[in-house]
Amino acid sequence: MLKKKIETALNKQINAELYSAYLYLSMASWAESKGLDGVANWFRIQYQEEQSHAMRLYGYVNERGSRVKLTAIDAPPTDWKSPLAVFKETLKHEQKVTGLINKLVDLARSESDHATDNMLQWFVSEQVEEEATADGIVCRIELVGEKGEGLFMIDRELATRVFTPPADQEG
Ligand code: FEO
Repeated sequence: MLKKKIETALNKQINAELYSAYLYLSMASWAESKGLDGVANWFRIQYQEEQSHAMRLYGYVNERGSRVKLTAIDAPPTDWKSPLAVFKETLKHEQKVTGLINKLVDLARSESDHATDNMLQWFVSEQVEEEATADGIVCRIELVGEKGEGLFMIDRELATRVFTPPADQEG
């Protein structure tokens, strides 16, 4: 059984991951409305990834004999100025999530909860990847520009992304 403090903090993180899913689905729907099919695809995959992050925490809380309690998810923004703006916000959001994960690790350590600390290390590595991916896309859009052929190229590249569930979450 998890300590109450840890259980509450992990439940909060489940909410944060579901908010991330909701935010990225909102970004996908914005991109659909602009005819940016590749960008929309990328964010739909990102939405699935965030759901899988929430479910990883959900599974862990249950495995430890504790209780998942779902709470209201905030409404995400619905409009962005441009593809660059949407990816800049993605990067900023992921940096914020990294901060939340780091705080959870600090808490697990201060409570001597080694199992939770160990489980969270997956998220520590994942956040490095999440930030690097978003940063890479921001850099490429800045490089090629947001108009005409440059944007078409980026959109085509983002259309190729597929969802791959982590090996330990398959089936
Ligand atoms: Fe669940 Fe994008 O971090």
